[in-house]
Amino acid sequence: SYGGILALLFGYLLGSIPFGLLITRAAGLGDVRKIGSGNIGATNVLRTGNKGLAAATLLLDALKGTAAVLIAGRFAPELALWAGFGAFIGHLFPAWLGFKGGKGVATYLGVLIGLAWQVALIFAVVWLAVAVLFRYSSLAALTAAVVVPIALYFLSTPAIAGLFAVMSLIVIVKHRANISRLTAGTEGKIGAKG
Ligand code: G3P
Repeated sequence: SYGGILALLFGYLLGSIPFGLLITRAAGLGDVRKIGSGNIGATNVLRTGNKGLAAATLLLDALKGTAAVLIAGRFAPELALWAGFGAFIGHLFPAWLGFKGGKGVATYLGVLIGLAWQVALIFAVVWLAVAVLFRYSSLAALTAAVVVPIALYFLSTPAIAGLFAVMSLIVIVKHRANISRLTAGTEGKIGAKG
C-alpha cells in the first residue's frame, strides 16, 4: 500500500540520521569512523573515552526507532512495522554516508521498545548479562539478536516475530567482522580505547 511505502520512507529518513557521527563531530572529536571498529554506533563512540557521548548515541539511535514506530502507528497499527523496519534500514544504509551506516543494534532495540516493550526488557537483560560476563558489546548484541525472535514467537504476533527474525539476520550479517575477531580472540572489550 502507499501508506506502507510512506511509513517505510518516513522511518528511513529518521533512521538515517547518524547520531554517533554528528555527536562526536560536534564535540570536536573528529570522525568516529577513523577509530576502533570504524562503526558509527555507541560502542565505538565509547572508544573515544567519552561515556556521556556514547550514552547519548545509544539513546538517540534507539529513540529514532521508537519514534518512527510510535508516530506511524498513530495513523494505522500495521504502519508501525513498516516505519520501524525503515528506521533500522536507514541506520544501516544512510544515503548521506554513501549507504555505509551502523550495525543497527540500538535502533533494533528502539523499534522493539515501540512494538513489544516486554521483549525489549528481555533484550536488555540478555545484552547486559553477556556484556557483564564477557565484556564484548558485539557478543551481547548477537546473543540478544538470537533470543529476541524466539521470545517474540511466544509473546507477540507472527508479523512482529517475522520482522525481528529478518532484522536479527541482518544484524548478524553486519557483525561478520566482529564474529571473525571474536573467534580469533582479537575483539575489543567494552570501554577499551580505540
Ligand atoms: O552495537 C554494535 C556492537 O555490537 C559492535 O560495535 O564498534 O564493536 O563493532 P563495534
